Amino acid sequence: MRKIDIFDTTLRDGEQSAGINLNTAEKIEIAKQLERLGVSIIEAGFPASSPGDFDAVNRIAGTVKNSIVTGLARCVQKDIDTTWEALKVAEQPHIHVFLATSPIHMEYKLKKTPDQVLEQAVEAVKYAKKFFGLVQWSAEDAFRSDREFLVRIIEKVIAAGATTINVPDTVGYASPQEYGELFKYLRENVRGADNVKFSAHCHDDLGMATINSISAIQNGADQVECTINGIGERAGNAALEEIGVALHIRNDIYQVETGLNLKEIKRTSQLVSRLTGVVIQPNKAVVGKNAFAHESGIHQDGVLKNPETYEIISPALIGEGEVPLVLGKHSGRAAFRDRAFKMGYDLSDEKLNKAFQEFKKLADRKKEITEEDLVTLLTETQVSVEDIPLFELKSVQVSYGTENIPTATASVVTPDGELKTLASTGNGSVEAIFNTLEQLVDGPVSIQDYRVKSVGKGRDALGEAVVNILYNGLTTTGRDASQDVLEATAEAYLNAINRHLIRQSIQPKQPIL
Ligand code: KIV
Ligand code: ZN
Repeated sequence: MRKIDIFDTTLRDGEQSAGINLNTAEKIEIAKQLERLGVSIIEAGFPASSPGDFDAVNRIAGTVKNSIVTGLARCVQKDIDTTWEALKVAEQPHIHVFLATSPIHMEYKLKKTPDQVLEQAVEAVKYAKKFFGLVQWSAEDAFRSDREFLVRIIEKVIAAGATTINVPDTVGYASPQEYGELFKYLRENVRGADNVKFSAHCHDDLGMATINSISAIQNGADQVECTINGIGERAGNAALEEIGVALHIRNDIYQVETGLNLKEIKRTSQLVSRLTGVVIQPNKAVVGKNAFAHESGIHQDGVLKNPETYEIISPALIGEGEVPLVLGKHSGRAAFRDRAFKMGYDLSDEKLNKAFQEFKKLADRKKEITEEDLVTLLTETQVSVEDIPLFELKSVQVSYGTENIPTATASVVTPDGELKTLASTGNGSVEAIFNTLEQLVDGPVSIQDYRVKSVGKGRDALGEAVVNILYNGLTTTGRDASQDVLEATAEAYLNAINRHLIRQSIQPKQPIL
């Protein structure tokens, strides 16, 4: 069967979405999970855009061994040098260089003639080839480019050494027929086309990213670029889980294989949602909360008689099933370590001890600890940053009554080690908490978004809070899960402030794309 490479760009194009800012530890966690999922290529970031991106790409390249790790670069030597520095530790160094080819991008954004663009692309690919065995070149806004020019430039970059040609629909404008035809046309008209891989990269502005990617596959694409949960610029990128499952379920038509371990889909989707703070819409295909829920009586009756009456995908296919009870109050450290290891968490002794203490505290308050609880707890410990002094919540108390003014009091250890006790009122309990904690920093903190949801089911389920703040011109998302939603809210707010401090201590991302 024809093999289609899955190129995951959650950590690059996905991370470019508004409000997402992952730290290095979180990116490594996601990369390790993508490796378990079996993606062929992980685009780990844009090394020249910031020291933070450089560090993350470099550390992922040193960690991930079963997927190829790549980094994005503009067609300029400085970017290519930086990308090489970040990726030279990788098993199979791969670079992704891009340059826009559509008339509108060349004239207004690049202010270059087509010939100048062609020369720059060829020089960049030749230069990248000195370091990298695998060089992917992207014609940004390829779909809106002149076809003859596209053929001319692609032939030249292939001759210069490109091993993959990416043909993005950068603005999500293509229809499935048109996008497929473009691949067919390029396959038939580009000299040297048989010596390279062709890649599809679709955005979802018209809701057609998944079908456009599949249409490209049917017309000669060997690789598709996508993100978990479809996150990405504007309306997002093609969703990996939709493409992977559609190709599997309708293998009778598509006849391709991806090498994905579909059982890891649910866990990957949840990890990305938790760490990015981007919620998955309940009716989202494949990974939405309701994707397998049958509400109407007729449907429920049918499914009880034979699940295939209304279910074309079995929940087990994507790793969603009955969540087993994994550990309880009396479980010891060895059982905890063993379970964490089986779930794919390779924690240092120090982090394992910390996670075990949190687990014991939770077990005292909650009768049944589910796998979902453990994933939350272990992921939080895994990605916690320990070497920078930050704010730490010692206690929070809220007084609320329908006839009283809500008041919050909090004790917090500051980054200088001082214990501060603060109090404030608000129109509601949550606002009282925000007003109290805002006194820790200089200047106003504006709340852009605030959400609370339960982790798993039942009245004793953990509550997860996500707070998105705008402070000193930067938007930052904080999150926390706790048995009490007000405690989770206070922790999530402080988490956002702490992440802001960490981001300010490293140079911010350059707005390049
Ligand atoms: O959408 C796009 O064109 C991109 C390129 C950088 C490949 O993301
Ligand atoms: Zn893109």
